[in-house]
Amino acid sequence: MDNSLAAFVEPITILGSPATFDLFRQDAMPEPKPRTPKSTTGAARRARAGRARAAADLPVTTDLFFRHMVNSMRNGVLAITRDGRLAFANEVACRTLGCTVQPSDIGRPFFDVLQGSPDIVRILAGAFELSHLPNRAELRLKPSGKVIGYTLSHVSDERGRAVGAALFFKDLTRVEQIEERERLRDRLAALGEMAAAIAHEVKNPLAGIEVMAGLLRRQLPDSGDAQAILSDIIKDAKMANAIVLEVLEFVRPIRLQVERVSLPEVFQNAMAMAESKVARGRVEIAVTLDADVPAIQGDQYQLRQLFTNLLTNAFEALGGRGHVWIHGRHLRLEDDGGLGTDGHASEAVIVEVSDDGPGLPGELVDRIFSPFFTTKPQGSGLGLAIVRKIVDAHDGRIDVTKRPGGGTAFRVTFPLAAGHPFFQ
Ligand SMILES: Nc1ncnc2c1ncn2[C@@H]1O[C@H](COP(=O)(O)OP(=O)(O)O)[C@@H](O)[C@H]1O
Ligand SMILES: [Mg+2]
Repeated sequence: MDNSLAAFVEPITILGSPATFDLFRQDAMPEPKPRTPKSTTGAARRARAGRARAAADLPVTTDLFFRHMVNSMRNGVLAITRDGRLAFANEVACRTLGCTVQPSDIGRPFFDVLQGSPDIVRILAGAFELSHLPNRAELRLKPSGKVIGYTLSHVSDERGRAVGAALFFKDLTRVEQIEERERLRDRLAALGEMAAAIAHEVKNPLAGIEVMAGLLRRQLPDSGDAQAILSDIIKDAKMANAIVLEVLEFVRPIRLQVERVSLPEVFQNAMAMAESKVARGRVEIAVTLDADVPAIQGDQYQLRQLFTNLLTNAFEALGGRGHVWIHGRHLRLEDDGGLGTDGHASEAVIVEVSDDGPGLPGELVDRIFSPFFTTKPQGSGLGLAIVRKIVDAHDGRIDVTKRPGGGTAFRVTFPLAAGHPFFQ
């Protein structure tokens, strides 16, 4: 079958609507050269004729074609008339702004239809007053918090009079998130260097304290008081040493040993490791993995560490009673996330670790992944910093939300197509 572009383009008849779209006037287009038919079989002729009929139905230069074109754009497009009526809103615009525009809204005052988006109303309202219209400006929309990049232009008639205004915009929220992650990564790198230097300095004296205290304990077998104090010293030195080891673990660059990873095995090992660190008590754990979850490529030891840390936190939050759920599922992303990728679907495996513990106060959410942030008297504040580092090394992402019904839910997303821009 002839799939070449020429075979498709040739039969298109340029429909006349010359008054509106001069550019597309038939006489402005070069006459297509007559082509020698490649195949003369009856079937091929019929197929070509069928394609020609279908293509001829395409109203290339009609209003409808342009309407379809603007509607299909991957930018939000809003247009108003000079007297303040809404002339057009495409699907992306409605989706980004979270509004619905019915056909009956076209022609109504735009500030009425778009009243849920006061920032957009303000931009459009200034369209005929500003001498320089904003080009590639950015704005954080209230109340949604979404960030958009936008360009405002006049819609001019054939005499150059501004008869309306058009706003083109793109949702940049994910781009912003990625930039924020990069800033955080830089901050962590600087902090990490400092922490590594301190950890190295502290490690040896700590070991010295522990050894000396042990010697002294042996030399003072009869003093009960001294024994108790020295035992405390040794216990505290051990704890400080564990923190130093965690710091070094955190600052050590990750070199992934990537292989095909069985998630059930990783969960099993992580549960055993978490239980060896924190008493699980009567906490019930439910592990579910949807049947269509594919294997992921990753470092199974790092992944075990990741889920161990999440489970350890969950056990600590639950204090011996409650539930932990581990759920794995397969996700297809249809959306390009406003990053200008080719719009093809990409796939990911999502693992959610949730608990019905006391939950996380909203104001802490931004801080819990920072190294050394802890709300626990004996905490190192490194568990989630290590989690984030492992997730980053796998080109993944991690989000934390309140679990509906109480508690905390951590969602880890592993891209299946490595290096998809959404996750970088
Ligand atoms: N499942 C959870 N429920 C409630 N709070 C949590 C949970 N996981 C983490 N946190 C909060 O995040 C903080 C940081 O966790 P982490 O980095 O593991 O350090 P640490 O456990 O040493 O405190 C904890 O101190 C706690 O306040
Ligand atoms: Mg922890």
